[in-house]
Amino acid sequence: EKGGYPSFMEKEIHDQPAAVADTLLGRADAQGRLTLDELRIDAAELKDVTKIIVLACGTSAYAGSVAKYAIEHWCRIPVEVELSHEFRYRDPIVDANTLIVSISQSGETMDTLMAVRYAKEQGAKTLSICNTNGSTIPRESDAVLYTHAGPEIAVASTKAFLAQITATYLLGLYLAQLRGNLFTGQIKDILADLHEIPAQIQEVLDREGEIKDLARSMSDAESVLFLGRHVGYPVAMEGALKLKEIAYIHAEGFAAGELKHGPIALIDDGQPVFVVVPSPRGRHSLHSKVVSNIQEVRARGAKTLVIAEAGDDAVRDYAEFVFYVPQTPTLLMPLLATVPLQIFACELATAKGFDVDQPRNLAKSVTVE
Ligand code: F6R
Repeated sequence: EKGGYPSFMEKEIHDQPAAVADTLLGRADAQGRLTLDELRIDAAELKDVTKIIVLACGTSAYAGSVAKYAIEHWCRIPVEVELSHEFRYRDPIVDANTLIVSISQSGETMDTLMAVRYAKEQGAKTLSICNTNGSTIPRESDAVLYTHAGPEIAVASTKAFLAQITATYLLGLYLAQLRGNLFTGQIKDILADLHEIPAQIQEVLDREGEIKDLARSMSDAESVLFLGRHVGYPVAMEGALKLKEIAYIHAEGFAAGELKHGPIALIDDGQPVFVVVPSPRGRHSLHSKVVSNIQEVRARGAKTLVIAEAGDDAVRDYAEFVFYVPQTPTLLMPLLATVPLQIFACELATAKGFDVDQPRNLAKSVTVE
């Protein structure tokens, strides 16, 4: 059942082309018009949404952070992302025009369930992005958008994360279509880029040896830092979380712009730092800022490990190691840039002899608050 892989985690990392493809399947007609039939919320009601609050925990919350960039950009609706367990304790402002988007692989995470119930009581509309058919959170929500990643067995989430991001993009495009924020042609172009992603993930997987070699060479690392900007920031957070949970290595993700506000003090000789670099074909200032961040940490002795887009030669001079991912618009890059970081954590944990599927102290679904 592990499909010939040594662990479920490794199998599930390799399931990701299918997880994204299946989540995209059947969501649009030939004209590129999205049809999210299962949503169950009236189109008219969705049109009136003035604010979105994403509620989730852990990896699912990082999917929400990626979604914020895409949905705000495409739909011009303000999006807040809040950890479910923090939401209820801050007297949140929600009303009938607030759309709560909960994201949960299991659909059983108690913190998220309680947050959704609370939001419902306050009169908000609730939509669940979930990977488990018929689980509690989608059953209690007004609407559901299922991810089709298939059952995720390994405790550390991988394929569900990419499927969640994919689902939030579909939701964003659907809202943009309803509200007229994007033209049909623009939506069609973005969908075409999304449909390229499964084959592009496969390209990354076909070159996994590069990142596995790096991981094995670093099995005695005591701390690894991850930096990113824009959508690269949640990718950095996710890369750090994977490493903590299965390899038990101290890892931190930072927004690269925060470096000079503190974390740069951590950098000394040989400190490994992953940097997720946005496409140089996108906003120029974003790319060049991240390249300067690589230079800054390198000048202080960091070992710079860079995830960049194919063709980005500018990073080579400052990187100890570069892994190139195929070209895609910056907003979609998390679907590619996350994969080498998952492989890195999985291989490093394996090299240390740990059970990557059942990390210590963790459960697959957290059904207590
Ligand atoms: C990390 C991980 C956890 C879950 C979190 C939420 O690899 O698996 O952080 O993402 O416990 O779980 P769900 O998505 O089931 O609500």
